[in-house]
Amino acid sequence: MPDFSLQVALTQITQALAEQGWLVLPKFFPTNHVQALRAQALSAWQAGEFHPAAIGQGANKLQNFDIRNDSVLWLESAQGEAVAYYLDFLEQLRLALNSELFLGVFESEAHFAVYPRASFYKKHLDNFRGRSTRLVTVITYLNHAWQAEDGGQLRLYTSNAAFIDIAPEAGSLVVFLSERFSHEVLPAQRERLSVTGWLRRRS
Ligand code: OGA
Ligand code: MN
Repeated sequence: MPDFSLQVALTQITQALAEQGWLVLPKFFPTNHVQALRAQALSAWQAGEFHPAAIGQGANKLQNFDIRNDSVLWLESAQGEAVAYYLDFLEQLRLALNSELFLGVFESEAHFAVYPRASFYKKHLDNFRGRSTRLVTVITYLNHAWQAEDGGQLRLYTSNAAFIDIAPEAGSLVVFLSERFSHEVLPAQRERLSVTGWLRRRS
């Protein structure tokens, strides 16, 4: 992505977070980048590098397949160019949020997630029982031609009474304040790949 359009996008994201706390940018990442990330995720998945996702942190960490049954792999820039590019985007977003909104986010982390057919993640807040330092959730998807009947939508509760359903379509970007918006992943009828990242305050 050229620098100029990246700056425009970062401004759009920071404004939306300041005004409503969340935003969705359909088809944000170019197809070649999504393809490269997807290829990276799939080869690691086939090599058995993912592990079942846990909930909670530290001593409270546990696997609960009634709540979520995806598998994850943490991103490291050494995994390849596509991953390094994505982590660089997260870093640019982190810097923009600090300079524009004085958010004080000092660390980032991100993982690939694979939801095999029939997997889900029940309604939750990313800031588990207030212990986590996650301030901003950043998600992108790696699934081409996702259909409504494939399920697997991200249901984001924008208020007590309302939600929006977001299809996990290739390249779409979702950003929201981690402590404010409950969300869930509806059961996916097709294998569903994503990258979920968080910007965190210092722990
Ligand atoms: C998560 C999560 C949503 C999604 O990993 O905490 O809520 O759409 N992911 O993948
Ligand atoms: Mn979540």
